[in-house]
Amino acid sequence: MALLLLAALSPITIHAADCGKVIKSLDALNSSVHGRVHVNTPFALPCFSSYEGRAVAPDAAACQAVQENYASPTFRTEYPGAYMNAQDEMCSSDPANQCVLDNTKPTDPLAYVGKDCRQGDVPAYYLEVTDVCDVQAAFSFSRSSGTPIVVKNSGHDYLSHSSQKGALALWTRNLQKLEYHDAFVPKGCSATKGHKHMAITTGAGVNCDQAYGFANENNVTILCAYSETVGISGGWVQTAGHSVLSPVYGLGVDRVLEFHVVTPDGQELIANACQNQDLFWALRGGGGGTFGVVMESTHLVEPPVPMVMADIALTSNSTTLLEWMAVMLEEAAPWADAGWGGHITGSSLIYVNPILSMDAAKESMKNATDYATSHGGSAVFKYFDSFYGFYEEYVVANAVTVGNTHLAGSRLIPRSVLDNEDGRKALLGFLEDIIAAGSSPYVPVSMPTVYKRDGDNTTSTTPAFYSSLWELGVSSTWAWNSTLDQRLAAVEVLNNRTAQLEAITPGGGAYMNEANPFTSDWQESWWGKENYASLLAIKNRYDPDRLLRCWRCVGWEESNVQDSCFEAFNN
Ligand SMILES: Cc1cc2nc3c(=O)[nH]c(=O)nc-3n(C[C@H](O)[C@H](O)[C@H](O)COP(=O)(O)OP(=O)(O)OC[C@H]3O[C@@H](n4cnc5c(N)ncnc54)[C@H](O)[C@@H]3O)c2cc1C
Ligand SMILES: *[C@@H]1O[C@H](CO)[C@@H](O)[C@H](O)[C@H]1NC(C)=O
Ligand SMILES: *[C@@H]1O[C@H](CO)[C@@H](O)[C@H](O)[C@H]1NC(C)=O
Ligand SMILES: *[C@@H]1O[C@H](CO)[C@@H](O)[C@H](O)[C@H]1NC(C)=O
Ligand SMILES: *[C@@H]1O[C@H](CO)[C@@H](O)[C@H](O)[C@H]1NC(C)=O
Ligand SMILES: *[C@@H]1O[C@H](CO)[C@@H](O)[C@H](O)[C@H]1NC(C)=O
Ligand SMILES: *[C@@H]1O[C@H](CO)[C@@H](O)[C@H](O)[C@H]1NC(C)=O
Ligand SMILES: *[C@@H]1O[C@H](CO)[C@@H](O)[C@H](O)[C@H]1NC(C)=O
Repeated sequence: MALLLLAALSPITIHAADCGKVIKSLDALNSSVHGRVHVNTPFALPCFSSYEGRAVAPDAAACQAVQENYASPTFRTEYPGAYMNAQDEMCSSDPANQCVLDNTKPTDPLAYVGKDCRQGDVPAYYLEVTDVCDVQAAFSFSRSSGTPIVVKNSGHDYLSHSSQKGALALWTRNLQKLEYHDAFVPKGCSATKGHKHMAITTGAGVNCDQAYGFANENNVTILCAYSETVGISGGWVQTAGHSVLSPVYGLGVDRVLEFHVVTPDGQELIANACQNQDLFWALRGGGGGTFGVVMESTHLVEPPVPMVMADIALTSNSTTLLEWMAVMLEEAAPWADAGWGGHITGSSLIYVNPILSMDAAKESMKNATDYATSHGGSAVFKYFDSFYGFYEEYVVANAVTVGNTHLAGSRLIPRSVLDNEDGRKALLGFLEDIIAAGSSPYVPVSMPTVYKRDGDNTTSTTPAFYSSLWELGVSSTWAWNSTLDQRLAAVEVLNNRTAQLEAITPGGGAYMNEANPFTSDWQESWWGKENYASLLAIKNRYDPDRLLRCWRCVGWEESNVQDSCFEAFNN
């Protein structure tokens, strides 16, 4: 904690112009950054006595710490070679090429005794980024050597965008700037033309817990993820960034005011509504790790947001779960119009509402309350005088376990489908299928509904976000020690579920961050054809040499498949 506080006080150093000399070798890069390039080792390595076929000494104390914290996001996030989801660490296409523990029992010796720790999809090297020059030097090295660059912040990516075998990872976690502005004017804009906002600037390594805490200290509210450790300036805000407050206050991309970014062509740029507008638009939804390395971003903040919380749950069997979901479907549109946001997790929901009074909130939730309480369940309503109280009591308590393979596979569900009986019937059929298969529905309800944006092309995320009410998730997993056939089978099921949802939501889209990584028509699903074409033109302008080439990111081509560990699943 002391270290973090210290880091928070030292802002990013901005070097004057020419720190960008040509760098041709890893050694030259290392000396230009004063020895901060390191071999990147897998998180679980301390438990093994063999690494890439060579004998190594295990480190019992370090191994024990890894085992004890295997499922902890706060522990993992401080390690450059650790990721939240196991598919980011392992080479998914080659089960022998990995260095993971048995996530169901991290002390299980089967995983590491007599086993070789292999690098998997963990980048070969990492550079702990401290300033703009580091990034410029890394890009120069990448251009000369052909070594791909990957940006690694918190390591939450579900699509392995922050890992990549053989790459040099730019590790941003220690860019810890936090700055409050009571009248922020984006650089180059005129304060008199409405460009003056309460805002917070966050360094690239700041996570949601730190952003929420800092906002609270300044008596304002900032939007971020339903997680302590997701980063606010990385993949969250650069892809969409949904929050339980988004129905009323918009997405992360709607609220970001400015990016400070280093592009792969070596430029240090400020992107906002008044300069480098094309890049600003691309960074507002085009995806992380694609257009450059964001050093910091500035976000609109609100005065304290008082709100009502509804926590409704029943103990269910498959019949009551399906009936409960029918109520959820019926209420989706009225609740969206009333400003509710939250999550449905199987037979429970936790929603918040910043615009209804307590009485109106109870009335609005009546059908869900009645269903739950008449089936042995409960309904709790609570008033919070700011988002932060809710965050501490509910978000922190609901942290997701990590260290397992977790493939997300969600689709955005348009209002037009939820608003009509045939659409709801089709969705209920889908839910019946997944419940019968032993899954439990998971629905983030965090699309802008009451919120209206300034124009219809302010962001580059899929436009489906602005006409949808639900993100309906289907996830998939495979065991730490699964065979390739087992992995292929898991992905086949995921692909079928995706196809089912696509058939119910034609012309809709998916949130790339939480979508099936193997979505076949990914450009259309994740951005829409029109946005994709514009994003590709911007990618060509700033990254013509494709130094950044993550899996199915803007500019990805079939020929890039061998860069990834997903080749066996390419469809
Ligand atoms: C437990 C969990 C909870 C989540 N909750 C939410 C939620 O409530 N709302 C929501 O919208 N999403 C949520 N997500 C999805 C999350 O937003 C994405 O996984 C996001 O990509 C994470 O970004 P990161 O920077 O923290 O992670 P990383 O894995 O480090 O990076 C993700 C991507 O961003 C890129 N990137 C990171 N930093 C930078 C930078 N400085 N410049 C350029 N590119 C960068 C990386 O290269 C990669 O492409 C959740 C994910 C998990 C695992
Ligand atoms: C970079 O230099 C430092 C300091 O000299 C050294 O400890 C480190 O091993 C070097 N990194 C690599 C990848 O060689
Ligand atoms: C949206 O704005 C971007 C950035 O200015 C531009 O490249 C793109 O063509 C625009 N798209 C539409 C449909 O107007
Ligand atoms: C916080 O802000 C609110 C509204 O902006 C104000 O009413 C309140 O007095 C402030 N509280 C503190 C402790 O500054
Ligand atoms: C599920 O629970 C409900 C009410 O609690 C009960 O009436 C019903 O018979 C149960 N159904 C099954 C399949 O167990
Ligand atoms: C409850 O459900 C009924 C029947 O579907 C509907 O007519 C009514 O509007 C709902 N009430 C609320 C408060 O949503
Ligand atoms: C994986 O390990 C588990 C124990 O954690 C064991 O039961 C299972 O048989 C193993 N599976 C394979 C495919 O080896
Ligand atoms: C997936 O869908 C295809 C085509 O509809 C079907 O042949 C296959 O059996 C399905 N696989 C699974 C695992 O459901």
